[in-house]
Amino acid sequence: QFQLKNLKSAIDIQPTMWGIFFEDINFAADGGLYAEMVKNRSFEFDTPMMSWQEANEESNPSELVIINLEDLKPENPRFARLKLKGNYTLLNEGFRGMGVKNGDLYNFSIQTKLQKGAAPMRMKIALVNAANEEIGAAELMVENTAWSTMKASFTAKATEEKAKLRLTFEGEGELDMDMISLFPQDTWKQRPGGLRKDIVEKLEALQPGFLRFPGGCIVEGRVLAERYQWKKTVGAIDQRTGLVNRWNTEFDHRLTPDYFQTFGLGFYEYFLLSEDLGAEALPILSCGIACQFNTGELVPMDHLDPYVQDALDLIEFANGATTTAWGKLRADMGHPEPFNLKYIGVGNEQWGPQYIERYIVFEKAIKAKYPDMIIVSGTGPFPDGEDFDYAAKELKKLNAELVDEHYYNTPEWFLSNANRYDAYDRNGPKIFAGEYAAQSVAIASPDNKNNWQCALSEAAFMTGLERNADIVHMTSYAPLLAHAEAWQWTPDMIWFNNLESYATPNYYVQQLFSNHAGNKVLDLKYGKQPATGADQLYASAVLDEANNQLILKVVNASDKDQDKLIKLGSDIKINTKAEQIILQSKDLKAENGFSAPEHIAPQHKTIEASSKKMTLHLPAQSLSIFKLDLQ
Ligand code: AHR
Repeated sequence: QFQLKNLKSAIDIQPTMWGIFFEDINFAADGGLYAEMVKNRSFEFDTPMMSWQEANEESNPSELVIINLEDLKPENPRFARLKLKGNYTLLNEGFRGMGVKNGDLYNFSIQTKLQKGAAPMRMKIALVNAANEEIGAAELMVENTAWSTMKASFTAKATEEKAKLRLTFEGEGELDMDMISLFPQDTWKQRPGGLRKDIVEKLEALQPGFLRFPGGCIVEGRVLAERYQWKKTVGAIDQRTGLVNRWNTEFDHRLTPDYFQTFGLGFYEYFLLSEDLGAEALPILSCGIACQFNTGELVPMDHLDPYVQDALDLIEFANGATTTAWGKLRADMGHPEPFNLKYIGVGNEQWGPQYIERYIVFEKAIKAKYPDMIIVSGTGPFPDGEDFDYAAKELKKLNAELVDEHYYNTPEWFLSNANRYDAYDRNGPKIFAGEYAAQSVAIASPDNKNNWQCALSEAAFMTGLERNADIVHMTSYAPLLAHAEAWQWTPDMIWFNNLESYATPNYYVQQLFSNHAGNKVLDLKYGKQPATGADQLYASAVLDEANNQLILKVVNASDKDQDKLIKLGSDIKINTKAEQIILQSKDLKAENGFSAPEHIAPQHKTIEASSKKMTLHLPAQSLSIFKLDLQ
């Protein structure tokens, strides 16, 4: 039997308890959340013509060359020069194709410059299907002899998952082209050059308490030169310097040689997204150590200053007055009001004395200038290993505020760690469970599934996170997004192709917890103990004072339905009708997919409730959320 003696609580649940972690892995940014449809739009990938195809007769005398003005335009040095003789066709393949929807409006733009004295040139812009038939088209006449941006919009006449962009030129002379871009009009909040609406809507439905960005390993880079540098991701879009993605060709069996970061989705856009979602922004910055799974390359301590300065400048960018240099850039980009940044992370999954000595320098500098900024530090990726223990011990000595712990492990590990924080040090740093996901096969195995067994074990673990909300202040599943045809890591919370996205069972677990977060943890017992596995039950209880509700979250991990009494303290009065939301599958291997996106999805039902004697019906292999209205 469960027991909840009273509604007294000494434990506040932080509004940041359930958040999301965005990393540009699995084509999550370019080719995913960032709605740009043209891949390698400014010819800056390592191979400048990657994703572009010249589609002309062999005898066509026209010629396309790539010009590199490294000395004049270091941030975006390349552009294409077409020496046109009659006509010429160029195709862009998009990100494993371009997703086009019948009746939707598409906005094309291009920077062009015609050679002085050349006659105007005709440019036909078309989306074509696999049979090379037009499914939407527009025309432009190029007449400008100084760089200028031209735009055209058109409506698609058919739905196509793998369309291509076809540009056809007619005329004679030399034409320079750069930043060739195509976006749907229907982006999130209809922002030009914005984000994919269906994906942001799924993020919004999570009601996340925070948004951690931009990674993950991409923060660190395989070598320091490839680390994520936020300053190169803000300002005018054509002046953001592209970078190879750290997940480019990482795994032989999932080659993605075309994985680069254009930073159209950069730090300004991440802050804006955090604001849109009502989530605290949590940027993570390089601490001067490259990914320790690659080179682990280090910047010497006496060369660390620029890294530290990046952190200080970022805070100014987010929060500074518009009279400051970085605050002014924020205002110029369209957001004079501060973003009200409260958290900043130093390093991702780094460990050892090298991390600690660098962390100390960051902490000193940040706190000297911004004493209220909460700094997130890390303990490395191997919970309870030697490195982890070392970092945890040192960070405790340093009075670190919030430590990022990551767990990628088996479903069994998640079940048996539901009590992980019950006996954790209450005098140490607070916990950010910044990356976790149950792995059905092995860490990052390509065969991992987002199956119900994994999701259910995460739910059980999360009751433990919630019960320990006095020390666990932030949590996030990882990774968040994956393109069905261009991924490097499984499992992932939301899968998408070029037309659609679907939520996994793991997503629904996250959503049920975060949509029913409450604000106080209550003392729920199963027998005399918290429910951490006895009878394969896991449970937590919270009070939601804003809605005057008592919320129970109960996982029945057994393969049998169980009916359990709950005894409420005599002063707890609830209404006779309550709601039970059930997420369940009898098949632990069951998954959602594009063809059955809601195979496993929350089911709502009204149940009888009683303050005196109430039975909780717990279906086999289920997560239940009980919402009990207080009188
Ligand atoms: O989530 C995928 C990767 O796992 C992250 O980039 C890294 O932090 C962790 O090792």
